[in-house]
Amino acid sequence: MPNRKLVTRRQALWLSLGTLTSIGAIATAKAGYESQQIESLDNSKRNFKVAAYTPLKKRAATKGIIYGAAIRRDLLQSNPKLAASFAQQCGILVPEWELKWNFLRPTPNRFDFTAGDWLAKFARTHGMLFRGHTLVWHEALPPWFKGVVNRQNAEKFLVEHIATVTKHYAGQVHSWDVVNEATKPGDKRSDGLRNSPWLKFLGPDYIELAFRVAAEKDPKALLVYNDTELEYDIPEHEATRSAILKLLERLKSRGTPIHAFGIQSHLWGHENRFNPKKLRKFLADVASLGLKILVTELDVRDKNLPKDLKLRDRVVAATYEDYLSVVLDEKAVIAVLTWGLSDRDSWISKYAPRSDGLAVRPLPFDSNLKPKLAWNAIARAFDRAPKR
Ligand code: G3I
Repeated sequence: MPNRKLVTRRQALWLSLGTLTSIGAIATAKAGYESQQIESLDNSKRNFKVAAYTPLKKRAATKGIIYGAAIRRDLLQSNPKLAASFAQQCGILVPEWELKWNFLRPTPNRFDFTAGDWLAKFARTHGMLFRGHTLVWHEALPPWFKGVVNRQNAEKFLVEHIATVTKHYAGQVHSWDVVNEATKPGDKRSDGLRNSPWLKFLGPDYIELAFRVAAEKDPKALLVYNDTELEYDIPEHEATRSAILKLLERLKSRGTPIHAFGIQSHLWGHENRFNPKKLRKFLADVASLGLKILVTELDVRDKNLPKDLKLRDRVVAATYEDYLSVVLDEKAVIAVLTWGLSDRDSWISKYAPRSDGLAVRPLPFDSNLKPKLAWNAIARAFDRAPKR
């Protein structure tokens, strides 16, 4: 029973981490704590061996799973080594920036598909699938949005945007994140939805509308509802999980053309409140609605872990493997994407940097594109996953 093993591993790890520092203060690496305490944080016996260095996309494909990553055009254009690794490892590409409103709509009346098209072509040229992220979100809106979009014209903007973009890429997209991060129980609405500009202007039905427009213009794409902050056994995440289930159930009961749920999974290396049973049950509940599941933005933040590189890499790798073992046990999970490939380019270096100034190490490849233990961990999870 793999789940029991997982709990034990995470708990053992946490027990050791707990000796390092208290939960709240774990972020601050107090001078001198490492030398003796790193020894107590010993998961060094954990084995991350893999039989061969077969690329992740191939290992995943053997099990009927798609592996890929988010990437930006500027990175692929400026770094041929990265482009080569990306093509070698990834079976699917998702633009990290280029299909968001602020990139696609420089002015209210002009669409610019240049960067998105370049990435779609890169994917095609290298035999990869292409994913769309994202048609409706409360972030990454263009600077003009606030002064232009209002209650009166919001529906026109939303429909026009989704129709234009999905039509432009129709037939080229494996899956679209139609709506992103629409829940936020902290906003205290009874339906758990986020008080986003779209909700304020259009009410909760903007979500259903978005899916209907996307389905009409690109009937081939898998239409996904994507969300975040729901992986752990803490009240906030529990509330998010139940808000999402409520939303998905409502959409399905109204015949909305929604095909999948995207679980982002920006994880934390230091977090011990990972409850395999609860996450597994949530995924089963989603699957029972007839939805596929994609892990859309996987990475592991190491902000609160000790300095020591080897130890840090081990904890990050363990987090990947423990998480993926649970998630891939659910056969409705058809894809795993990491949010980037190389540590050098991760959003985390800007949004969750380490207080000691050391480079973050959240992804499968290091800054020189060498595979890390995290790579092994992902490979091992694919190797052990049941076949779809
Ligand atoms: O717009 C400028 C651009 O002109 C310039 O070249 C660039 C140079 O740094 O900066 C650009 O702004 C960046 C912006 O993305 C582009 O839209 C910001 O610096 C950058 O911080 C910003 O962050 C991105 C964020 O989404 C907002 O779009 C992150 O890189 C990206 O990883 C993050 O991704 C989100 C997912 O979409 C949804 N889930 C959470 C995830 C992480 O926050």
